[in-house]
Amino acid sequence: MRLSVIGCGYLGAVHAAAMASIGHEVVGIDIDPRKIEALARGEAPFFEPGLQEILAEGVASGRLTFTSDIAAAEGAAVHFVGVGTPQLQGGHAADLSHVNAAFESLLPHVREGDVVAGKSTVPVGTAAELAPRVEAVGATLVWNPEFLREGWAVQDTIDPDRLVTGVPSTPAGERAAQVLREVYHPAVAKGTPFIVTDYATAELVKVAANAFLATKISFINAMAEIAEVTGADVTQLADAIGHDVRIGRRFLGAGIGFGGGCLPKDIRAFAARAEELGRGESVSFLREVDAINLRRRERAVQLVVDALDGSVFDKKVAVLGAAFKPFSDDVRDSPALHAAVRLHGLGAHVVVTDPQAIENARRVQPQLNYEPDRDATIRDADAVLMVTEWDEYRRELTPEHASALTVGRVVVDGRNGLDAAAWRAAGWRYYGMGRP
Ligand code: UDX
Repeated sequence: MRLSVIGCGYLGAVHAAAMASIGHEVVGIDIDPRKIEALARGEAPFFEPGLQEILAEGVASGRLTFTSDIAAAEGAAVHFVGVGTPQLQGGHAADLSHVNAAFESLLPHVREGDVVAGKSTVPVGTAAELAPRVEAVGATLVWNPEFLREGWAVQDTIDPDRLVTGVPSTPAGERAAQVLREVYHPAVAKGTPFIVTDYATAELVKVAANAFLATKISFINAMAEIAEVTGADVTQLADAIGHDVRIGRRFLGAGIGFGGGCLPKDIRAFAARAEELGRGESVSFLREVDAINLRRRERAVQLVVDALDGSVFDKKVAVLGAAFKPFSDDVRDSPALHAAVRLHGLGAHVVVTDPQAIENARRVQPQLNYEPDRDATIRDADAVLMVTEWDEYRRELTPEHASALTVGRVVVDGRNGLDAAAWRAAGWRYYGMGRP
């Protein structure tokens, strides 16, 4: 099929390349010429495992093209809109200006019978508002949220857990759902659940999923706070409750909390939308989820301060990690970077390392010192703070190796990813999150 993808950020670039890799003819469109130039050369504009390969392959095959000319959308049977919905400046709601601008520029190029598929994460009610404009040109709007995780984005797009498509309850809506089944034929053929809903449900599925995941993380982090005043170990607690299949161990990793381009802004936008709908109290717990999450960043900083006898002033603190999670170079709302900035503000000599995210981190926090080499980062450090659980730090850095480099023997494990017993046995003062 011929497809267009409007917006070539994280979601759009991966979607375009993934759709080409399953045999479609795809044009990716974005207003940012630098992004388009890189993509057109077959170069991934951000770090995402597997993307580079399918991008280069798609571009070389001629099935995948990129342009900043929106008129190139003409002739596609399905137009995916995957532009960003960041947090509004000075508020918690989602900023829909990119979505509105994308529809505005796309609609003159949409033909009768086309399907326009919204993929952006939007406040519930957005699709119903946009639908009449799409219907006015004889096309059908569907809402088709994505659930991709950074680091697994290619796999999550080609082989998702489920596909959700919100459609209008009309014959055109039914036809549009069928078109989407054809778009995702490999996943549909292997029996991936394909759930057809109304617009509101489809929009809500996305934010509800993210709200649930965020709540699960903050739940275990709340238990970590209780563990901290009782001497309990939250990692053992998580293992024990996680054996109950109704609970499950995944997303019960207590630590410095969640960040990234989705969970933080999505729960805030959800709470803001619920307020608008007069149901603020229904999701008021999300404010607590957010607050617990932000407290964990402060806790990690406090552990470093306490371990260095109450002051980090003029002490060298090596910060292992800048990305909001491993296998990503994304530093948006990164707890790791947040902690580094706070320590810098307290007068510490902070050196940050990360296998992928240094460039992005430097752009947003230029005042910090960055060092690509892990060992140079920890050399002469008074304390080591591990905040992104890359294998380079979690598995490959042994306490014996670190002992030969640092001045102090203080390690704060912001992700509960290090082997506490091994570090202690090597003479280190080990501090975990929610652990004795
Ligand atoms: C998330 C959702 O998982 C995905 O379905 C949605 O489409 C977009 O948002 P992503 O932002 O890539 O994906 O990250 P995810 O893997 O969910 O992790 C989010 C944050 O939670 C990270 O900062 C991670 O370190 C943290 N986390 C995760 C924990 O602190 N503990 C855990 O147990 C799991």
